[in-house]
Amino acid sequence: MSQTNDRAAGSGLGDAPPPGAETAAAGKPLLRHEVVEKSAPLMLLLTLVSILIGGVVTVVPLFTIESTIEPVPGVRPYSPLELAGRNIYTREGCYTCHSQQIRPFRDEVDRYGHYSLAAESQYDHPFQWGSKRTGPDLARVGGKYSNAWHEAHLINPRQVLPGSIMPAYGFLARREVNPEEMAAHLRTLRRLGVPYTDEMIERAADDMRAQANPFDRNLAAMRERYPKAAVGPFTGPPRSPMDQTPVRITEMDALIAYLQVLGTLAEIDRLRPEDLRQIRRTGASPQ
Ligand code: HEC
Repeated sequence: MSQTNDRAAGSGLGDAPPPGAETAAAGKPLLRHEVVEKSAPLMLLLTLVSILIGGVVTVVPLFTIESTIEPVPGVRPYSPLELAGRNIYTREGCYTCHSQQIRPFRDEVDRYGHYSLAAESQYDHPFQWGSKRTGPDLARVGGKYSNAWHEAHLINPRQVLPGSIMPAYGFLARREVNPEEMAAHLRTLRRLGVPYTDEMIERAADDMRAQANPFDRNLAAMRERYPKAAVGPFTGPPRSPMDQTPVRITEMDALIAYLQVLGTLAEIDRLRPEDLRQIRRTGASPQ
């Protein structure tokens, strides 16, 4: 072992002139490599300079575009009921077992549908992409099952899928949500850039009640504001048009409304590749 080291020290790099040194000396390059490599401060300074150049090259072009998100037709902010459900999804930590991002790989697309587009989580604060799949991806679970299936599955996953390890969430059906609170949620999201209009904020409580009741007189107005919204009842038996009692909206109703909208908004069939481009500040308006 020590013999090899001796030999290396004796006949190796120390003694012999480094290969290419002659040509370097003859050509007098701007900065000799040995100088840089033997001085830690100089090496550090030059490394920093090259990283800065790299940073500027990647960051500065982004200042010339309005948004890095390609607009996709159909994507809209969440309705008040969907938003309440989304808050419950976050609170219960569903993202610890479920991702909401279909990656652009053949196996994922075959199993879950079209890969996720940036625009589809444009209004998510915070996004629910997740990083672990104990259960399946939920980015396009909307419309895959009926409301009744979701209700049974949330109450007891084992009842619809023997052997499922998903926890039961039956207690959500016993906790009510308050429609009057939703205007404040919408207002907060508007501050973060979600395009809720004054009307949407003003009518938030009505819209929430309308989505939960198929015979609500505000249903058409709600649907106009939030196209493609799934309409209740999300839990319990079908409601009769004669029933004039106010609908009791539970956390489970809200959560199912949210699950039913996931992945259904973007009109992917109508999307042409040339539509998928970033919006230039000076260019044509999106959509
Ligand atoms: C401990 C991990 C775990 C947590 C937490 C969890 N799930 Fe699941 N989930 C699973 C597993 C595993 C499956 C697959 C078996 C089944 O369908 O029950 C699943 C399946 C599902 C499905 C059916 C998906 C499909 O395409 O078939 C839905 C919907 C769902 N979960 C919603 C939720 C919601 C909503 C929450 C939070 C309230 C949640 N899950 C929390 C593990 C979890």
